[in-house]
Amino acid sequence: MSNKNIVNPYEVKGKVDYNGLIHEFGLEKIDEKVLNRIQNHTRDLHQMLKRGIIFAHRDLNWILDEYEKGNKFFLYTGCGPSGPIHLGHLQMWYFTKWLQDKFDCELYFQFTDDEKFLYKNLSYEEIQKWTEENMLDVIAIGFNPKKTHFIIDTKHAGLLYPEAIKIAKKITFSTIKSSFGFTDSNNIGSIFYTSMQAVPAILPSVLKKKNVPCLIPLGVDQDPHFRIARDVFPKLGFYKPAILHKLMFPSLTGMNNVMSSSKGSVLITARDSPSEVKKKINKYAFSGGQATMEEHKKKGGNPEIDVSFQYLKHFFEESDERLNQLEKDYTSGKISTGEMKYYTIEKINQFLKEHQKRRESAKSKISKYFLKY
Ligand code: TRP
Repeated sequence: MSNKNIVNPYEVKGKVDYNGLIHEFGLEKIDEKVLNRIQNHTRDLHQMLKRGIIFAHRDLNWILDEYEKGNKFFLYTGCGPSGPIHLGHLQMWYFTKWLQDKFDCELYFQFTDDEKFLYKNLSYEEIQKWTEENMLDVIAIGFNPKKTHFIIDTKHAGLLYPEAIKIAKKITFSTIKSSFGFTDSNNIGSIFYTSMQAVPAILPSVLKKKNVPCLIPLGVDQDPHFRIARDVFPKLGFYKPAILHKLMFPSLTGMNNVMSSSKGSVLITARDSPSEVKKKINKYAFSGGQATMEEHKKKGGNPEIDVSFQYLKHFFEESDERLNQLEKDYTSGKISTGEMKYYTIEKINQFLKEHQKRRESAKSKISKYFLKY
């Protein structure tokens, strides 16, 4: 077990030891058996499932048991609006869309403008601007508008607050302190916030006056909120939500860091132009190759640490065959880092082109997605 792992919604430090996290957080590994169970319903498997990018879960077998009994689950995930949407977000949400399509489920999507206002050095107005902006990208993902419900914390406060206080009453400050590394000098809003992020996991149950199973796809840094919430829900008469955990999306500069809006690191954003993507990958993407072409041809490269290859593996290359070939050819030195970068740039740009096209027409759709109550 690793003591050095710091992975929580507000800090991810250094290289993440995912096996250590499974231990520390008490997660279950995604294994062949549970993948087969998923595949029984979805027919094919998303590349993120096949490749261990979705690496862990909580109670997935329970949610599939319920599903097989005809008790459908809903999906819940969210966005903290404090900056542009980047590749890590897109990867998470396109996977969420895949789940929605395959299991034909409702999706509750939370925009935590309260959270970002409380935690970031940004004004309320700036956060509102990011909320509007980010909603367009989420719409561009293509979620089913009839089955997708946006919750904006400050706008749906009247709906969320009565549930949030019931949850908050069962969480102590000392639990929050130890889960997030808070001290007495954290602002009091941030201490309360976990209870707001918990609510959507039970909201359909509250609205329908009947317990509905919930599945939450998330980046593993978000797990601490739900670890706390899962302790509370049974005490209030609700199911614990099931969770799917995704690896953190690597930063451009190397596998020891994650792509994150908070660190002032270089992001590839959903709005980047083809030339921006090209510039960023060429300039920053950490190379697993050798110092010279000659040496590379002789010794080969290391795909494990080559960020371009990892972007393809984490999401952007859907074909396993193509990915395996790239891995082999890079390891043997047959293809260079430059060629790997070129291919990655093409893949990302192709992807962003489609996304950006759908984003054009997203504005007129916002009201369709807004949760009515
Ligand atoms: N707190 C998350 C963030 O900062 C946003 C979020 C809200 C979320 N609810 C969620 C993420 C549920 C995953 C699952 O990005």
